[in-house]
Amino acid sequence: MKAVETMYWENGRLYVLDQTRLPAETVYVVCRSCRDAADVIRTMKVRGAPAIGGVAAFGLVLAAQELRGDREAFVAQLREAAGELLNTRPTAVNLRWALERLLARVEAEPGDPARLREVLLAEAEAVLRDDLAANRRMGTYGQELVPDPARILTHCNAGALATAGYGTALGVVRAAREAGKRVRVYATETRPFMQGARLTTWELMREGIEVVLLADNMAGYLMARKKVDLVIVGADRVAANGDVANKIGTYSLAVLAHAHGIPFYVAAPLSTIDLRTASGQDIPIEERDPKELTHFRGQPVAPEGVQVWNPAFDVTPHNLVTALITEAGIFRAPFEDALRRVIGNGREE
Ligand code: MRU
Repeated sequence: MKAVETMYWENGRLYVLDQTRLPAETVYVVCRSCRDAADVIRTMKVRGAPAIGGVAAFGLVLAAQELRGDREAFVAQLREAAGELLNTRPTAVNLRWALERLLARVEAEPGDPARLREVLLAEAEAVLRDDLAANRRMGTYGQELVPDPARILTHCNAGALATAGYGTALGVVRAAREAGKRVRVYATETRPFMQGARLTTWELMREGIEVVLLADNMAGYLMARKKVDLVIVGADRVAANGDVANKIGTYSLAVLAHAHGIPFYVAAPLSTIDLRTASGQDIPIEERDPKELTHFRGQPVAPEGVQVWNPAFDVTPHNLVTALITEAGIFRAPFEDALRRVIGNGREE
């Protein structure tokens, strides 16, 4: 079956798959302005760290289309637009990474605003191309860690939908399958936004990869019954010491995996690794609307006025991470020196 594109650019507009309508409907939202791009990120029509980085990159291209004035004014306003995009979701560092990549490209280009618009579009397209290539390389490395047969527990959605295609954690699953291995995926529903139930199951079922849905609180019992060979998740930000911010509930799975002697893998591209953030304590964690917990599909499921805590992510300390799978290879503790070496060689920090 043809892969569904998370986003595509056509005739000066960005089309973004509305993930809030999946699995019932496959509908694309048209972004005509930087504000539209910021809006689809904020409302989680697009989600997943690399995917929101991609939309932010094209958001800057859309901003550039509207800007007037000479080069200096153009660059100053572009920086303001980048600020607006950056403020949408604080945890996924791919957003900052993509915006800085485009701004650096503009700084390095001597041309006038017309030329800068062309350069920005080419760079945004390269962000998507590079992400897809990184995911495939991650898959090639990561699938070596997958036994045959394998029962793999994953959380949230770190698949094609969360990226430019193929996926990070689910990319490893895909690559294992392509290598002829027999894989079964256990997908947690991922309360409260249900990315696992709505998106991961949909994505895998379309490709005929066996997937079993479970509620988040069933993972411990599943492990106790020896039905999980490995856990693999994505990341929104990996700190320099290897601590991992990912969807709320990831930390609980890492602790459970540790208690049951099950390997816990994180698949993330280098664009998710943030060497400017020393440890998980320094990662900003997004807190979302209490309504995600007090309501389900518009219906109240809790008493009106109840206090709510709704962090969208948690932090898994590096000592619980068996290995970090990237497009530059597989890293094990201690992470920091190796990550600094590989990122220092690959790109500016
Ligand atoms: O709130 P979301 O759905 O954007 O959270 C997504 C995740 O936590 C993913 O695991 C992470 O972004 C990695 S996606 C390859």
